[in-house]
Amino acid sequence: MASNKSKILIIGGTGYIGKFVVSASARLGYPTFALVRDTAPADPAKAKLLDSFKDSGVTLVKGDLYDHESLLKAIKAVDVVISTVGSLQIADQTKIIAAIKEAGSIKRFLPSEFGNDVDRVHAVEPAKSIFALKASIRRAIEAEGIPYTYVSSNYFAGYFIPTLGQPAPPTDKVFILGDGNTKAVFVDENDIGTYTIKAVDDPRTLNKVLYFRPPANTVTKNELVSIYEKVTGKKFERIYVTEEEVLKQIQEAPIPLNIILSINYSVYIKGDHTNFEIEPSFEATELYPDVKYTTVEELIRRYTGN
Ligand SMILES: NC(=O)c1ccc[n+]([C@@H]2O[C@H](COP(=O)([O-])OP(=O)(O)OC[C@H]3O[C@@H](n4cnc5c(N)ncnc54)[C@H](OP(=O)(O)O)[C@@H]3O)[C@@H](O)[C@H]2O)c1
Repeated sequence: MASNKSKILIIGGTGYIGKFVVSASARLGYPTFALVRDTAPADPAKAKLLDSFKDSGVTLVKGDLYDHESLLKAIKAVDVVISTVGSLQIADQTKIIAAIKEAGSIKRFLPSEFGNDVDRVHAVEPAKSIFALKASIRRAIEAEGIPYTYVSSNYFAGYFIPTLGQPAPPTDKVFILGDGNTKAVFVDENDIGTYTIKAVDDPRTLNKVLYFRPPANTVTKNELVSIYEKVTGKKFERIYVTEEEVLKQIQEAPIPLNIILSINYSVYIKGDHTNFEIEPSFEATELYPDVKYTTVEELIRRYTGN
């Protein structure tokens, strides 16, 4: 029986978040295509990942963002394009936009976002320019009249939960930006994949931002530390870092620490994950209540082995 599910192409499927999007697409039964630069990579980890894609029924398509013909051919064969390219390729998503325009048949494009809502940030450099670049891709999509969904998934759990956002897991001290009472959002990468795929054929998310605010995962840093303490049975000294001090650290930090710090500034000092109201109808857990998401407490248990 022919599937009425859209054919999905993922560009950047071998990347950190891309692999979760590819596997969710295959798991949820969508005909799934992954554009890859190298179908037989020498790197054993990457070769293993591609084997796992193939085992789950994913079709590998050889192509490159910078090879228009390969991009166009791959896009013409599908209904939906999801980009999960990394920070270095954000600006060059104009090449995907041009190919989608030329193909003329794409029902939905999800550009590489997967973070803050970039139209609602109060950032300082270098995060400010990174967010602005993503916003300019939004404007280019809208100018071409391409149907879209922007995925605002907020923090990747795997980046922030294991170490509580520090360079290493806490032993005795936890550093807290600001007063620790601003709510941030942490989402399991598998859930990011699942909610993203659920949105592709959903008319409710057409030309909208899909926000992720799972209630159990929308927590202040103080709450997060308390949950971590409860799960691990440890107690940490909480060291509060003032806004002025954070700004100074951003100025002095090398790349990429300054990028991470400036994103954390937007989230914890300015509250950019949660400082605006959204319609419940645009929130992932409200839209897809059937998905049993992984809570922050479960994530901490997973990462600390408790
Ligand atoms: N919210 C958060 O906490 C958070 C954290 C990190 C990132 N993000 C966001 O998530 C998004 C994805 O970032 P990521 O870190 O997952 O990306 P990543 O790991 O850097 O992956 C980049 C992907 O793009 C592919 N790629 C690179 N150049 C290409 C080209 N010329 N043609 C085709 N594909 C190409 C790579 O393929 P190869 O395997 O061939 O290199 C790889 O699959 C970004 O928008 C980023 O800002 C959010």
